[in-house]
Amino acid sequence: MAALRVVVMSGSGRSLLSASRTLHCTRASMSFTSLSRGKKMALSTIGVLTAGGVSLALALHHSVKASELELHPPNFPWSHSGMLSSLDHASVRRGYQVYKQVCAACHSMEYLAFRNLVGVSHTEAEVKALAEEFEIVDGPDEKGEMFTRPGKLSDYFPKPYANPEAARAANNGALPPDLSYIVNARHGGEDYVFSLLTGYCDAPAGVKLLDGVYYNPYFPGQAIGMAPPIYNEIIEFEDGTPATMSQVAKDVCTFLRWAAEPEHDQRKRMGLKILIGASFFLPFAYYLKRHKWTVLKSRKIAYKPPK
Ligand code: HEC
Repeated sequence: MAALRVVVMSGSGRSLLSASRTLHCTRASMSFTSLSRGKKMALSTIGVLTAGGVSLALALHHSVKASELELHPPNFPWSHSGMLSSLDHASVRRGYQVYKQVCAACHSMEYLAFRNLVGVSHTEAEVKALAEEFEIVDGPDEKGEMFTRPGKLSDYFPKPYANPEAARAANNGALPPDLSYIVNARHGGEDYVFSLLTGYCDAPAGVKLLDGVYYNPYFPGQAIGMAPPIYNEIIEFEDGTPATMSQVAKDVCTFLRWAAEPEHDQRKRMGLKILIGASFFLPFAYYLKRHKWTVLKSRKIAYKPPK
């Protein structure tokens, strides 16, 4: 039996060398050809069975998907979807107008306060004027009675319904969800909400819908309790942008993205700063790596054939 002798020579390996240690190892018999016939058969059977099982599972998985009638939203080229692109704040401003004039009739946004709009889409004076349009119930006063007063910057967006039961009663039993975090709460985010708002169509032949529900291929189950909320020219934008259906939907989705992720612009700016900062440290890290590894990398493994 031939013995393999490996000697390690390097700065740090010198002690090993002087001890003149020799490693003996026999040839490992691990290859497929060296197995007995029975073992070969067993291994091949296991392989074939596993491959068959995996392909069957895949085939079944696909057929389950094909039975779903749900349409998945495409990826829209949002102006804010780039790695370094900020939200379009003019769009956020128009989107707030859409929310206020259309969606707020049914949907609350209870985690947003008027002050959150300051410096994002409106000036402080504008937001104060906006808030004052609303009557807010406050109190109790010194007589223990509730009273109403004009809204302030610190007030949260008023809700359309006093409680979920009232909301359901007014909407055929369907609950309009709070829109504060809706783009994070649905798969597809703003792509989904945009598709949902613009995707209403006639139900295909043979599909019967109950009263008060509408056909929308993007909604899970296709029957949604929200009537088509927007159409061309539903509102008039204060900045003169033509209010087509897709423009209205796009603006309200940008607004909803901001609402769900107010730190969006800050996050991308910080990311850029960290990348720039980190790139200064990269050459140092590389130098340090070479320095620490040099001993291991420069040693030499030699083979001394047996005499
Ligand atoms: C007339 C009332 C009404 C108006 C106006 C309205 N919605 Fe809705 N909305 C509903 C109801 C009711 C539901 C719940 C539907 C359901 O669960 O079947 C809903 C559900 C939704 C959902 C959730 C869908 C899901 O996947 O669960 C989104 C998003 C939404 N609305 C966005 C909007 C936006 C944006 C506007 C404004 C452009 C708007 N809605 C205007 C009543 C309304």
